[in-house]
Amino acid sequence: MATFSSGEAHDDAAARHAHVVGWGMAVPESALTNDELSTFVDTSDDWIFARTGIRQRFIADEGESTATLAYRAAQQALEVADILPTDLDLIVVATSTPENIFPSTASLVQDWLNAHDAGAFDLSAACSGFVYALNMAADSIRAGSIGAALVIGAETMSRILDWQDRSTCILFGDGAGAVVLQASPAPGGVLSSVLRSDGAGSDLLAIPSVGSIDADESRASTNGNKLYKMYMAGSEVFRFATRVISESIEQTCTAAGIQVTDIDLVIPHQANLRILQAAARKLGLDADKFMSNVEHYGNTSAASIPIALCEAIEQQRIQDKDHIALVGFGGGLTWAAMLIRWGVPEPREQHGSMLNRQRRHVQYRIARWRSRSRRWRRRVDRKVREIRD
Ligand code: COA
Repeated sequence: MATFSSGEAHDDAAARHAHVVGWGMAVPESALTNDELSTFVDTSDDWIFARTGIRQRFIADEGESTATLAYRAAQQALEVADILPTDLDLIVVATSTPENIFPSTASLVQDWLNAHDAGAFDLSAACSGFVYALNMAADSIRAGSIGAALVIGAETMSRILDWQDRSTCILFGDGAGAVVLQASPAPGGVLSSVLRSDGAGSDLLAIPSVGSIDADESRASTNGNKLYKMYMAGSEVFRFATRVISESIEQTCTAAGIQVTDIDLVIPHQANLRILQAAARKLGLDADKFMSNVEHYGNTSAASIPIALCEAIEQQRIQDKDHIALVGFGGGLTWAAMLIRWGVPEPREQHGSMLNRQRRHVQYRIARWRSRSRRWRRRVDRKVREIRD
């Protein structure tokens, strides 16, 4: 298996393709059904299911966070790809609910995995974030600057929901999905991408944070927005979503030189079943060409596409050489579509070699030890300096 490190020069850059070679997902232990939700929010299972297709979502417990979910999904993706964390050159976490404003969630995952040769950063493009991040990683691979990237979408939306606002809190859930993207001379993989933004719609869907103009109390009380809580103009977002899904998929097909009817499966951001059905109608595709699992997970923002991808693979809805369209849309406003020609790894690779599995587990243990010993050494150094001064 060819692996590249960021510092190496790659003569064959022109012939490099970016393939998805590993995938994984993680959700919290606890599910919250619509019926349970309606015991503390003025809503009902009938209303939620009819308007959105959602029946339940997963909610992080105290010990779970964006980073812990991202880490679990990442471990699975490395397992399927059968590569070591030290083979990674880049880790990107797409999230709107990062563990901290900084350091990035990606840096925490990098440390916990012992991926000591990887750069790491978080990417903010709301529910489009995963496709944006995958595009960044694919471009770096095709340009020859990296050989392998771990791209994660991870969220704990439950922590930024206003649980008094029934028009938003019923929609979202927590989770993470990850893929390993790797350079290969084999044609296929990521074929084309379309990234778009319309900041004029920034007031339709947002979570004000420390740097926000809404951090000013008087302004926040005028427009009614709460710091660190999501607000949304639901029906306008609905119309925006149905328009951009079809538009961006058509654009990415044109860029790849294929017809929309050549698409074998669309893996859209899982916001609302009605949005997906309307988009399928606009594109002239059968609704069953749109993967949907919103019923079980709700809208997990940047995590929804990689989670849906994992389930599509598990359900054997993706075959070798299939054309797969990913499409995300959300706050920004942002939207993004990507076309992939799937190349399923050989079964031998999918199950991972025994030796590599053991080496990965050793690396995870080393990661914990290395991180603790570095912190301990810094503390000792500080004490020594204090005593000396
Ligand atoms: N339970 C029961 N009633 C509710 C409710 C809830 N959870 N939320 C809103 N309602 C009520 C409203 O108060 C309103 O009542 P009224 O007619 O007495 O004023 C009524 O239902 C209709 O509200 P409306 O907002 O027009 O509903 P809608 O058909 O537009 O559906 C959404 C609301 C949020 C489901 C829908 O707009 C949507 O899915 N939008 C896209 C959101 C999205 O996917 N965002 C993320 C993109 S990344």
